[in-house]
Amino acid sequence: MGKSLGALIFTGFLLFLSFFTSPSQAQTCNGLALPSNQVYSTCVDLPVLTAYLHWTFHQENSTADIAFRKTGTSPTNWVCWALNPSGGQMVGSQALVAFQQPNGSMTAYTTSIDSLGPSMRPGTLSFRVSNLRAQHSNGETLIFATLHLDANLLSTNQVWQEGPLTSGAPSMHSTTGDNVRSIGTINFQTGAATAGGGASNSRLRKRNVKKVDLFCSIFLAQIHGVLNAVSWGILMPCGAMIARYVKVFHVANPAWFYLHVACQLSAYIIGVAGWGTGLKLGSDSVGIQYNKHRNIGITLFCFGTLQMFAMLLRPKPDHKYRVYWNFYHYAIGYATIALSITNIYEGFDILNPEKKWKSAYTGVIISLGVTALVWEAVTWLIVIKKKRAVGSADKYANGANGGNGYGDRTQQHA
Ligand SMILES: *[C@@H]1O[C@H](CO)[C@@H](O)[C@H](O)[C@H]1NC(C)=O
Ligand SMILES: *[C@@H]1O[C@H](CO)[C@@H](O)[C@H](O)[C@H]1NC(C)=O
Repeated sequence: MGKSLGALIFTGFLLFLSFFTSPSQAQTCNGLALPSNQVYSTCVDLPVLTAYLHWTFHQENSTADIAFRKTGTSPTNWVCWALNPSGGQMVGSQALVAFQQPNGSMTAYTTSIDSLGPSMRPGTLSFRVSNLRAQHSNGETLIFATLHLDANLLSTNQVWQEGPLTSGAPSMHSTTGDNVRSIGTINFQTGAATAGGGASNSRLRKRNVKKVDLFCSIFLAQIHGVLNAVSWGILMPCGAMIARYVKVFHVANPAWFYLHVACQLSAYIIGVAGWGTGLKLGSDSVGIQYNKHRNIGITLFCFGTLQMFAMLLRPKPDHKYRVYWNFYHYAIGYATIALSITNIYEGFDILNPEKKWKSAYTGVIISLGVTALVWEAVTWLIVIKKKRAVGSADKYANGANGGNGYGDRTQQHA
């Protein structure tokens, strides 16, 4: 017991020491020879994750030969270095990825980071990269490449990262600590590099520094997804089903109405909160726009708000304009539901969460759809039965009008 406590304290002491003697800032890349004996004219110590960037810029053909060096890597990790002309953030990064294959050989490829949960599969970049290769030795991973830089890439943002491999493929890196601070700027011509993100323009830089916290933006995006999937994507269709199917039972006559209003009102309130998080995410991601998702979102907000007004401006059931109001309310209502579901799938493509979330939502939508179909059938049966009953009653009552059929369901409640 005493022995293991001693060992624990000793380990703690070592950790404490290593904290202060951490080489991350002390070591400067200038004094380091690259294992491959290549020589580059410029190098910078990247501020976190014990990483260094060496490069030689050729003005004549606007290319840069680079070596990205990450020390303290294990064979079970991937490393990545990227340029991001769209801002000091992860999304939009044009990345070079490297890791060790199970057979020990190194793989290096390019990938464009399009979402907060990127696939990290090989793909092309917005600029040309040649001579890409990687090596791993003495706990260091090196990525070599020649970048063919357009004018907008000469001074831009750089991002670097490290994460674990899951069954031989890169999986999500940590979203706390240094892994969300590994953003800075780079100027290939002057050799200047800064930490903390931001483009050359100082107003932009201020905005970017604020939003460097990748963890916050992923977290906010997840909240945005949950709020909107629950409100627009689940509660609203349920509210519509209540209005359509519970209404047939005359016993539930005022009840369905209040249930419908309560359901849609809470969906609208949660939905507007979700919409607000979307606005925040949109204003944070300078340079990256998901136009389709954004436009559908704005349309949905307008439709939802129209429905709230429609409720207040509802004519009495026997009013001659009520039939037009009904048509309007149904049209906007069904359009809202269709657009909501479309936009939730758009959102899944942007956030790209684990598959199970999309499957879970698809499951909910399918079960709502099946429930709606069953109720549709039941409703029709009830209505036909009522029509028959009314029909036979008519014989005895000599043509007295029943009027309880399907057609006037919409007039049952004010
Ligand atoms: C660019 O120019 C440099 C210096 O002249 C040369 O060494 C390099 O090979 C050129 N790169 C390409 C891709 O043409
Ligand atoms: C290692 O495996 C990869 C694919 O898994 C293959 O492309 C590569 O050629 C292999 N290398 C060696 C040295 O066997």
